[in-house]
Amino acid sequence: MKQTGGSDEAKRRAGESAADIPEDGDVVGLGTGSTAAHAIRELGERVDAGLDVQGIPTSFQSRELAREAGIPLTSLDEADPDVAIDGADEVAESGALVKGGGAAHAREKLVDSAADRFVVVADPSKEADQLSHAVPVEVLPDARKPVADAVRSAGGDPTLRTAERKDGPVVTDNGNLVLDSAFGEIDDPSGLARTLSVTPGVVEHGLFVGLADELHVGDADGVAVTL
Ligand code: 5RP
Repeated sequence: MKQTGGSDEAKRRAGESAADIPEDGDVVGLGTGSTAAHAIRELGERVDAGLDVQGIPTSFQSRELAREAGIPLTSLDEADPDVAIDGADEVAESGALVKGGGAAHAREKLVDSAADRFVVVADPSKEADQLSHAVPVEVLPDARKPVADAVRSAGGDPTLRTAERKDGPVVTDNGNLVLDSAFGEIDDPSGLARTLSVTPGVVEHGLFVGLADELHVGDADGVAVTL
């Protein structure tokens, strides 16, 4: 799995800390990325030891990992998540997030926002006073050009995400493309989120505003829980 940002040890601590939250009978949203993967593996250990939970994956990657870890799976058609555990590419002091480094933000937002308790897991490299990370915007393939124009009109600089080892674009689990859109320092994340959400052809964007309930940040000494 691709390793982004800070140390894997810090990510492991954050993920394992959040995996301690689910209780018997809970439905757990399973996030995507290397930090959420630690939570999924740890949850699998707990299921192995007798914890009775079901998971709702947010991506092909997290579904495969959950199956390997032995976590029984369900879907939003069947159940509402009690808790969701997911990573982030950037976390502002306000609790606003940029997500979508794994191009999974459409399903992540669906599952994370449906959960009673959305727990973000991160390492210190993700923390910022204000959001400035490029915002991943998932677009219908036909909408690439008009959405790129709309992003520019909103003050952003869109770049089509391309696959590292393939000569072509990244295609999401939903069959769409991703425009990584740099806006510099984002003064008004809610306003930008609204602008992107109402742009025709945008499937979902990676600004998660007002959704996070809890933040677990791991480091060399332990885990800080805030928000
Ligand atoms: C995937 C995400 C990830 O949670 C985000 O990219 C953080 O990943 P990692 O924990 O590997 O740093 O939003 O779409």
